[in-house]
Amino acid sequence: MSALRSIEWKDDQLRLLDQRKLPAQTVYESYSDYRSVAKAIQTMVVRGAPAIGVTAAFGVAIAARQFQLSSTESFLADLHSAGQYLIQARPTAVNLAWAVNQLLAIATTQANQGSSPANIAANLLKEAQLLYQADIAACKQLGTYAQALIPNPVRVIHHCNTGSLAAVDYGTALGVIRIAHEQGKQIHVFLDETRPRLQGASLSAYEMKAAGISHTVIVDGASGYVMSTQKIDACIVGCDRVAANGDVANKIGTYNLALIAHAHQVPFYVACPTSTLDLSLASGAIINIEERVSTEITHINAQQITPDDTPVFNPAFDITPSKYITALITEKGIVYPPFEENLAKLMGNPSKISDVVHSP
Ligand code: MRU
Repeated sequence: MSALRSIEWKDDQLRLLDQRKLPAQTVYESYSDYRSVAKAIQTMVVRGAPAIGVTAAFGVAIAARQFQLSSTESFLADLHSAGQYLIQARPTAVNLAWAVNQLLAIATTQANQGSSPANIAANLLKEAQLLYQADIAACKQLGTYAQALIPNPVRVIHHCNTGSLAAVDYGTALGVIRIAHEQGKQIHVFLDETRPRLQGASLSAYEMKAAGISHTVIVDGASGYVMSTQKIDACIVGCDRVAANGDVANKIGTYNLALIAHAHQVPFYVACPTSTLDLSLASGAIINIEERVSTEITHINAQQITPDDTPVFNPAFDITPSKYITALITEKGIVYPPFEENLAKLMGNPSKISDVVHSP
């Protein structure tokens, strides 16, 4: 069991664990203004695709409270611009826009049915709480389905942080690993440190230690050597957006890991709730990749490590072409290639999931 929740609704307030301070300090801050929620997402107080989706849902609920004394017309207009403000905080993880748009649609429907802004605000808070619970259920379910792919004993490589801290609980790829451990499997995980923000070294190692799961931190550049010398059974990563053809956006370095896995014929699994699918995009080539500030690369702990004025390119994510992905693991089951066809069936016609999904 992970010791900490990244997101809490407590004493009628949103509380976020400041992940930038882990593992040294455990600090929760309270939020009562949607703009500060957006800032917390942008500055990575809270990060990870499912976690920023749920946080943004609470952001919309908070905005609704801030506007609830207005007329219905200006309440809706202000709520929609608050929603856009939250969405622009981080562009790559689709979970953020997915969650915000769901709450905005509910607000619009309820306003059209004659609900008052105060009622809508109260309902949006309940909806955000439902998304919170739904995220826990989805992550547990996908982690359970994934066990069909996880032998015992097993050694895996993981990238970034995808555990409880990146979601509400369990998480995606690290959730798979945690459930394997809970089921008594002998699992060892090699954690890519994940330059430049080191989510693997700080957050994933913290979570694995708290859960008592055997792990080793490696530098990102070591994954090829580790794969060729350490009998790796699989790579498991999370993701921020999946296009209709199965291309995946995930933390920078994921593509390199997938290429190495392909070269070594090691299965490469991507775990995500269906809230991370974006079937409106034909391929990964059109996913908006966030670029972050150069100081994430030029500095470590406020100490400059490059010469003055060194040019830097800092994409926070990359695209792994679907041809390098063995399977996508969702809460609706495991999806295999051809992804374009099978993802469409998964989302379009749930009664036919058994045609495309292999669940234990
Ligand atoms: O920049 P971050 O830390 O938000 O990036 C997180 C990742 O890339 C994760 O792999 C992804 O969000 C899946 S988390 C369950």
